[in-house]
Amino acid sequence: MKIVQNIAELRDWRRQVGMRRVVLVPTMGALHEGHVHLVEQARELAGPNGCVGVSIFVNPLQFGPKEDFGRYPRELESDAAKCEAAGADIIFAPPVEEVYAPDRSIIVLEQSLSQVLCGASRPGHFDGVCTVVAKLFNLFQPDHAVFGRKDYQQLAIIRRMVRDLDYGVRLHGIETVRESDGLAMSSRNRYLDADERHQAPALLRALQRAQQAWNEGETSAAVLRELAQEVIASEAPLGRIDYLEVVDDTTLQPLSVVQSNGLIAIAVFFGKARLIDNIELR
Ligand code: PAF
Repeated sequence: MKIVQNIAELRDWRRQVGMRRVVLVPTMGALHEGHVHLVEQARELAGPNGCVGVSIFVNPLQFGPKEDFGRYPRELESDAAKCEAAGADIIFAPPVEEVYAPDRSIIVLEQSLSQVLCGASRPGHFDGVCTVVAKLFNLFQPDHAVFGRKDYQQLAIIRRMVRDLDYGVRLHGIETVRESDGLAMSSRNRYLDADERHQAPALLRALQRAQQAWNEGETSAAVLRELAQEVIASEAPLGRIDYLEVVDDTTLQPLSVVQSNGLIAIAVFFGKARLIDNIELR
């Protein structure tokens, strides 16, 4: 497996690879089993003759001024070992100066799906995500790209970007990988102290409570939200709900009634850590 840190080398690699199928896994590093699963899925999609590329880049553009850009974990050596074991062929791990010119003045702006859920509490976040993913798509020119479904909104927005900007990339949303107690894997779980970690699986239980009610015929979004809220209140008193929403699974706009399908999504602060999770109702 190759590790490249500059764009010229990545372009050389891309030229050499030519017509072989390229599958991209964009990450910010600090890889956990969820990421390893993404790389393994990418390996399968690439097949024996294809190539799997992993980008590892903590993208400053998607962090707010008060967010954790500075303390976000950076551990290239152990990340590289995990990528290699999972079947990656190349890692692109550039420094910030390689990706962004100091006088850069163009971004990719998403104006609808990014106004709700995480976008409402993290203004500019998804513009940062779209901008860096657009650049990665331009550099890797992948045939396929894989993203985790835990970041459902991110996947929906990138889908929209691929459609609206005519990227010829096939996107794959991969199921969330969970700890044995149900907590969705996230590089931010390490910010939790022992008590918070103990309470954090309540996110999934809250979503499941709503899902169960919906499966049993409850269609009122207000009722579904209330049921989920009760679980957080009783099982995760250290948690502070940032949002708990029932939305359309494509437009992400809030629903008042959930008929045939929808998404219930939650974000909860535990101290400085902000955890997200979701369940698709279908
Ligand atoms: O999901 C992530 O890790 C990031 O948002 C991504 C897609 C790598 C863009 O920086």
